[in-house]
Amino acid sequence: MAEIDTARIVYQFEYEERLRCAFIGAGGHSYRNIYPAFQYAPIDLCAVCDLDAERAAQYARIFGAPRHYSDHRVMLERERPTAVFIVTSYDPDGRVQALDLALDCLSAGAHVWMEKPTASSTAEVAKLAELAQRANRIVVTGTKTVFSPVMRRAKEIVSSPEFGGPSSIFIRYPLSMPAFEQRTSLVEMNWFLDCIFHPAAAIFHLMGPIDRISHEWEAKTGASVTAIRFQSGAVGALHLAAGSSPSSPVDRTEVVGNNANIVIENGTTLTYYRPTSARESGRVGSFLVPTESAPLRWEPEYSYGQLYNKNLFYLGYVDEIVYFCDCIVNGTAPDRGSLEQAFQILQLFEAYRRTEPGRWTGVDAK
Ligand SMILES: NC(=O)c1ccc[n+]([C@@H]2O[C@H](COP(=O)([O-])OP(=O)(O)OC[C@H]3O[C@@H](n4cnc5c(N)ncnc54)[C@H](O)[C@@H]3O)[C@@H](O)[C@H]2O)c1
Repeated sequence: MAEIDTARIVYQFEYEERLRCAFIGAGGHSYRNIYPAFQYAPIDLCAVCDLDAERAAQYARIFGAPRHYSDHRVMLERERPTAVFIVTSYDPDGRVQALDLALDCLSAGAHVWMEKPTASSTAEVAKLAELAQRANRIVVTGTKTVFSPVMRRAKEIVSSPEFGGPSSIFIRYPLSMPAFEQRTSLVEMNWFLDCIFHPAAAIFHLMGPIDRISHEWEAKTGASVTAIRFQSGAVGALHLAAGSSPSSPVDRTEVVGNNANIVIENGTTLTYYRPTSARESGRVGSFLVPTESAPLRWEPEYSYGQLYNKNLFYLGYVDEIVYFCDCIVNGTAPDRGSLEQAFQILQLFEAYRRTEPGRWTGVDAK
């Protein structure tokens, strides 16, 4: 598996070889989080395209691309990029704009990195996968959560023999789900589709494929709680905590193994409660377990101007982009942010669209 070496980050200008890349989209998120991440990736940005030509020109100037376009087809034809980054939005009918753009890029022979959501249905992802395979190109979706340093360490821990295999998971993420009757509308489901990729990517990454789900739903806020059974036999709960205060940390994830558990809080803090001996009830006067089996806790310091305490790094943006570049350079198929994972996430999305609260439904892996 291609991996960013977080112990020593390479600056863009230090790479001996860089990939010829173009960019479609000059919007808010890409300005904040994607173009700036290129400073640490083997990328030679040749052109920027946006429907708003003035924006495209400004972004090209700011982020060092020599040319800009307002029509992606013209850009693909003239630039012949090795890879294209796509960070666009939604059509008024709720369609994911990036889907058709990605199909055009693959047809033009370019690898594709696209922001989530990859698409709005499993059928659309299957179409992308088929073309990617025919064109012998890769597609990576920007599922930053599974690229973040804490998630990478969490995955290592839950996969280690001493953890005993993940037996259950709890994930909290604030997200409102529309009423069941509204879920046939892609427009009503737009925000849910936009955000479900974050907790869902983490669930599949840590626990593997889902067998079945059943959810309960609250009408005032659209909050929900989903009971999950995984194909491994493990169980889980997804608490989509709509109604939370905006001042609250967003996420909390806990995975339990066998005599061990991990907790990820606020995207940056990881605690590993390691296996340790049971305490005799009513007889032990100190809560301190032996040092060799004591909990481990990691959290960033925020006082120094370092890379690790920059959101581009601790949220996983640089890693997801360098990973994509590594896959292209090494000719390896992605296993994080892959179309298989996007397919699984959209299977979950479709399960919510077709199933009323209180009923079980299968979420089959491909
Ligand atoms: N992973 C994250 O942390 C995160 C955070 C925020 C947003 N996002 C995702 O990023 C994407 C963009 O969000 P945003 O808020 O920046 O949107 P935005 O509306 O600010 O930007 C989208 C840009 O795409 C351009 N565009 C649309 N169709 C185009 C086309 N055919 N050719 C050229 N340009 C085109 C628009 O003109 C616009 O400038 C969404 O998919 C969203 O889900 C991800």
